[in-house]
Amino acid sequence: MVEEHQMLCCEGEVADYIPELGKVDPSLLGVSVCTLDGEVVEAGDTSRPFTMQSISKVLALALALMDRGEDVVFDVVGMEPTGDPFNSIIKLETMNPRKPLNPMINAGAIAVTSLINGQTVNDKLGRLLQFVHELSGNTKISVNEKVARSEHETAHLNRALAHFMKEDGVLTGSIEDILALYFQQCGIEVTCLDLARIGAVLANEGKDIASGRQMMPVHVARICKTFMVTCGMYNASGEFAIHVGIPAKSGVSGGILGAVPFQLGIGVFGPSLDEKGNSVGGVSLLESISKRWDFSIF
Ligand code: DON
Repeated sequence: MVEEHQMLCCEGEVADYIPELGKVDPSLLGVSVCTLDGEVVEAGDTSRPFTMQSISKVLALALALMDRGEDVVFDVVGMEPTGDPFNSIIKLETMNPRKPLNPMINAGAIAVTSLINGQTVNDKLGRLLQFVHELSGNTKISVNEKVARSEHETAHLNRALAHFMKEDGVLTGSIEDILALYFQQCGIEVTCLDLARIGAVLANEGKDIASGRQMMPVHVARICKTFMVTCGMYNASGEFAIHVGIPAKSGVSGGILGAVPFQLGIGVFGPSLDEKGNSVGGVSLLESISKRWDFSIF
């Protein structure tokens, strides 16, 4: 299946608005699956690490919900999907109240990240990394500083979003500190297997599949999966829900995190993207996998 879908990779393009991301081979495609009884199946280019980018939004949301609770989080961010691109500023200007529509678009994610507990940017990043280590079972996961720096130097649109939100009191505290944390979280580097293991925890209602330890409350795992369904693939989430039907979150590096409730976690990597910012090969591969094994939740 990976070989079949690899051919589609030439139809998309690698993201290069973060210059460091533009250096990746667009023909790569890999998938890892981790079942809830711990079995791992992998195919294609699975050893190549990539940065989480927007996939980190799910994990920052889970941590912020655990740190601050639903009332505080949903005071700064909404719960509704948007038909706009992930980095759009338009709704921030025209909506009343002026808060981002959901935590999966950039504005909403920046607002959520600002709620993670910790004294300094490093403390907060350390807590997020620790959480990612626990969910994936991989303590070696760290930030790709080159990618994070590359985004830091070129993130004019994200800075504009942050300034809008600061003006309206959605963001409190230092904008540069909040953005520094956001760029670092986007730069957390993982493999397909790391994502598959994280997906398995979400699929298992927040419980570690080996130890049974509750890594996040059940309701937090459910909120994350719900946003993955409604907003996880940006303004292609409806189409993805119809064709694939798996709660999933994509990132502009070409990664996709998937969670099939009570069955398995999936991690996909294919850096060639469609015009909405989703992996071309990854989405079509997931569609085939879902159809073949009947994984749609609907
Ligand atoms: O904020 C950004 O632009 C990136 N760090 C993350 C965006 C992203 O992954 C959107 N994905 N499809």
